[in-house]
Amino acid sequence: CGIIGIISREPVSSRLVDALKRLEYRGYDSAGIATLEGGALGRRRAEGKLANLERHLAENPLPGTIGIGHTRWATHGAPTTRNAHPHATARVAVVHNGIIENFRELRAELSAEGYAFESDTDTETVAVHVTREMDRGAAPREAVAATLKRLEGAFSLAFLFKDEEGLLIGARKGSPLAVGEGKDEMFLGSDAIALSPFTDAVRYLEDGDSVILDHGRAAIYDFDGNEVVRPLRQAVGKAFYVDKGNHRHFMQKEIYEQPEVVGHTLGAFVDMTTGRTKIPQGQPLDFSSVRRMAISACGTGFYAGTVGRYYFERYARIACDLDVASEFRYRESPLGDVDLALFVSQSGETADTLASLRYAKAQGLKTASIVNVPESTIARESDLLLPTLAGPEIGVASTKAFTCQLTALAALSVRAGVDRGAVSAEEELELTGALAEAPRMINAALHLEERIEELAHDMANHRHALFLGRGFSYPLAMEGALKLKEISYIHAEGYAAGELKHGPIALIDETMPVVVIAPHDRVFEKTVSNMQEVAARGGKIILITDEKGAASGAVDAAETIVLPNMPEILTPIVYSVPLQLLAYHTAVHMGTDVDQPRNLAKSVTVE
Ligand code: G6P
Repeated sequence: CGIIGIISREPVSSRLVDALKRLEYRGYDSAGIATLEGGALGRRRAEGKLANLERHLAENPLPGTIGIGHTRWATHGAPTTRNAHPHATARVAVVHNGIIENFRELRAELSAEGYAFESDTDTETVAVHVTREMDRGAAPREAVAATLKRLEGAFSLAFLFKDEEGLLIGARKGSPLAVGEGKDEMFLGSDAIALSPFTDAVRYLEDGDSVILDHGRAAIYDFDGNEVVRPLRQAVGKAFYVDKGNHRHFMQKEIYEQPEVVGHTLGAFVDMTTGRTKIPQGQPLDFSSVRRMAISACGTGFYAGTVGRYYFERYARIACDLDVASEFRYRESPLGDVDLALFVSQSGETADTLASLRYAKAQGLKTASIVNVPESTIARESDLLLPTLAGPEIGVASTKAFTCQLTALAALSVRAGVDRGAVSAEEELELTGALAEAPRMINAALHLEERIEELAHDMANHRHALFLGRGFSYPLAMEGALKLKEISYIHAEGYAAGELKHGPIALIDETMPVVVIAPHDRVFEKTVSNMQEVAARGGKIILITDEKGAASGAVDAAETIVLPNMPEILTPIVYSVPLQLLAYHTAVHMGTDVDQPRNLAKSVTVE
């Protein structure tokens, strides 16, 4: 989850650990470092907190002036020492963030050639693949390049090689990686926070970049192998939240973090090695006797909860009551047949949600909360804490916390389905396999940014907009409208596509933009019919669909945003991204204060 690399003339091991401490906020369950001791790779790893690694290092010091380090939040394989990073062969050590989706295939290929593996991780296949290339005669750089070509998924990597006292290699595809420049020393880190004790001169790699470091220089290459210059940023060390990386706003940065943090969150709910769902930290949550749930939250969390209802009803066959928290707490609904109350909150401090939690507890209900801040009040007071691992979210308009909430809810609903016998073991694997593709699909959605920016410039000329969706896409229509109104102040409403004809259709004329969210799912044709009703009245349609939907011919009248085809369970998570980008670019074009929109607060602790 956190990466650090240092190439220096001074011993590095204690500085590697210091940097890892600064990455603790991301959450982790094991840690390790590797250095070169007289040319050979040396490694120290430990389960649990960094204090364990420090103790291990005190007893077994690790000299060396070049090294890499890592804090790991388990995705593939349990959080044991054996699975902790760095992973190493005699030739190379590697640390890694993100998920290598095709690691099973690579592992089978390498095993067939006689290479042995000592962990359950996807990361080790990277180390072994590089080793295989080097065994065939490749130099370190070529071996890494050949390996990168083979890897699928969203990830960042750092490599250290036997006998190479002056070489570190880093690569980024999806997960962030920064390069720090010092005096006769160079650094790699998953963010500027990790690098802040050493340097404030930081460059961020862009997607597809790799970097070759020696003591004096960081040579960055793009995906095609051309050397490129990435802008130098002066990171503000202590107050990490002032750092936006290469992005203009925190909101944009957080949108771009989604492949990583969604993968990370998924790892808390799914054992990525076996594909089986799990409850984080082995907490006792068994859905087999849960027949009815009450879900409650505010704002964006409420729309996540609304998608959650669709998930739980579909996959677990659990009926869900759903309320905004400010209503739930006073509605005095008879809760007699509710078996579990579920709350969703980024901050864990929202007053209405907290009051609802306390109300549910007072009624004797079992409570569980999906929360992004594990030290928060809601997290502490709930019977069960279901963490999203989005990392600190600074932009007031929630983006990455939302998609992480959706990810947690999706995985949890599959888990509930398994407990209740509604999802077979085989279906569980199919659904978690689909969810594992979320980071890659989100990446594909991010690549549509330019097209969405064009559409946003037109949106900025309007005062009103409608968002339509059916099924899983209905809550997204509401979230898309909320994003737009929060940051651009354009009046927007999200509607169930089928409800349009019962009123809001009166608003449609040539001046009304209508965003239609329609993956080619079981209700696609129905949504398209509703879209035709808009087209017939001159409304300006922006259709967000997939390749199948775009090829269906039903959509001539529309401006389209075309995503890859994907399994249904993924659509809410991935379709969030174009909606976020549309709101973001509309607001940027209008010149509003994107990260701190007027009248809004990140965390509302009043009723
Ligand atoms: C505020 C924020 C919203 C957020 C809502 C719920 O209104 O501006 O973006 O969705 O609170 O916050 P929570 O932290 O409970 O998810």
